[in-house]
Amino acid sequence: MRAVLVESCDRPPVVADRPVPSPGSSGSSGSSLSPGSGWVAVQVVAAPITPLDLLCAGGTSYFGRPAVPYVPGVQGVGMVGGRPVWFPTSAGMAPGDGSMAEVAPARAEDLVELPAGADPFAVAALGLSAVAAYMALTWRGGLRAGEQVLVLGGGGVVGQAAIQLARLAGARRVVAAARSAEGLERARQAGADAVVALNVPEPGDHGRANPSLDPTATTRPAKTTGRVETTGLAETTSTAKTTGRAAIRPAKAADPTESTGSAESTGSAESTSPVEAISRAKAAGLAKGTGFAQVAGADGVTGLVRVAGADEVAELAARLAGVCDGPVDLVLDPLYGVPAAAAARTLRKGGRLVNLGGSASETCPLDSSTLRSRSLRVLGYTNNELTREQRAEAIAYIAHQSAAGRLTVAHEVVALEDAAAAWQRQTAGTTTGRIVLRTG
Ligand SMILES: NC(=O)c1ccc[n+]([C@@H]2O[C@H](COP(=O)([O-])OP(=O)(O)OC[C@H]3O[C@@H](n4cnc5c(N)ncnc54)[C@H](OP(=O)(O)O)[C@@H]3O)[C@@H](O)[C@H]2O)c1
Repeated sequence: MRAVLVESCDRPPVVADRPVPSPGSSGSSGSSLSPGSGWVAVQVVAAPITPLDLLCAGGTSYFGRPAVPYVPGVQGVGMVGGRPVWFPTSAGMAPGDGSMAEVAPARAEDLVELPAGADPFAVAALGLSAVAAYMALTWRGGLRAGEQVLVLGGGGVVGQAAIQLARLAGARRVVAAARSAEGLERARQAGADAVVALNVPEPGDHGRANPSLDPTATTRPAKTTGRVETTGLAETTSTAKTTGRAAIRPAKAADPTESTGSAESTGSAESTSPVEAISRAKAAGLAKGTGFAQVAGADGVTGLVRVAGADEVAELAARLAGVCDGPVDLVLDPLYGVPAAAAARTLRKGGRLVNLGGSASETCPLDSSTLRSRSLRVLGYTNNELTREQRAEAIAYIAHQSAAGRLTVAHEVVALEDAAAAWQRQTAGTTTGRIVLRTG
């Protein structure tokens, strides 16, 4: 059979011939597919290439370097005994083969039967990313009907799913933030009430990463009409046309009611525009995202000082708060870093931030005053903590919503033979959505 093969953690995978896992045979996992072994052979139809697959194959995941060669793919959709099923694997996390092949070994107890009418490629694209979004919002984040949710990375698969799943769970307002123009558009398509650009243009830079950014734009007031608004966009964008105006207001503090004791500890943006703030920060030698500058005193001693109005976190927090309808109840965070620190400042007292990824950064400049003054709950989430039953229930719910046309994420279907190039595009971040391999 044809399969994707990771031969080395230092090279992209190839497409090669592999023995078909069959009853009585053993894969590289040592999984015997004989009757009664608990393992079955899945005729794979669709296998997504996810960030976890890349991380594991690169040998930098917290599971360590995988034993090579192996077939990657931590999940897929296929047929067993004539029935459509979703299945997980441990490929890259433990010895054994995964889903990116014509036939894959899976544990019978892990199979989740899909409802009639479910599109295998749409379900594969959603898969564990949507499970993470759903369980992080509901099980970990305790989302209740009527709450306001802020979704970071709204253009990613987790983010797009979270926007729709929060709505399905009864959220009254869903605000999303994304980095690229394409990501902002995907978040909008997913149904966010308002979208916010994460990146801030630099002086004289009319938005390299996001050409539609207007360097003078800051925040707009929140709306509760359900109409889509975008901050940080120029008047000439479609959003400005839709709303008929492009209100440009000075940046404001994320939560004017916050009692922090000192302006220094809040990192308040005061009334400085983002561009001005960043200019000042650069002039002062500000370490990006920290809110601190290194200064040499007259005695030659170097120290760190807070740079008032020059905090990237405060600036983003102000723009996020500007489109929220009052304090946020729950932040869904696959990014960490500056976006998470800024989002935390929009939370109400006792608000929750659930982190499930570090796409922006492995660390986060979350300040103590924000955390303690509002008794915030910062929670970590991993799919690996779910029981088999929880995961199966979540997949069944997601597949049901997908089949009903209420849940979808941007994805493209690519032939198995083109997997190596697709993998490289996923690594480079130049895809238009989740890549799903057509393996059947
Ligand atoms: N804990 C778990 O169980 C679990 C499960 C699934 C996923 N995850 C994690 O969640 C994260 C997102 O997964 P995904 O499936 O949504 O990935 P994805 O579809 O590849 O999307 C990645 C997202 O990250 C954004 N991004 C990347 N680099 C960024 C940066 N430097 N600053 C700001 N945004 C940045 C992208 O923004 P643009 O779209 O604007 O480019 C995009 O929205 C990953 O880290 C993944 O490992 C965790």
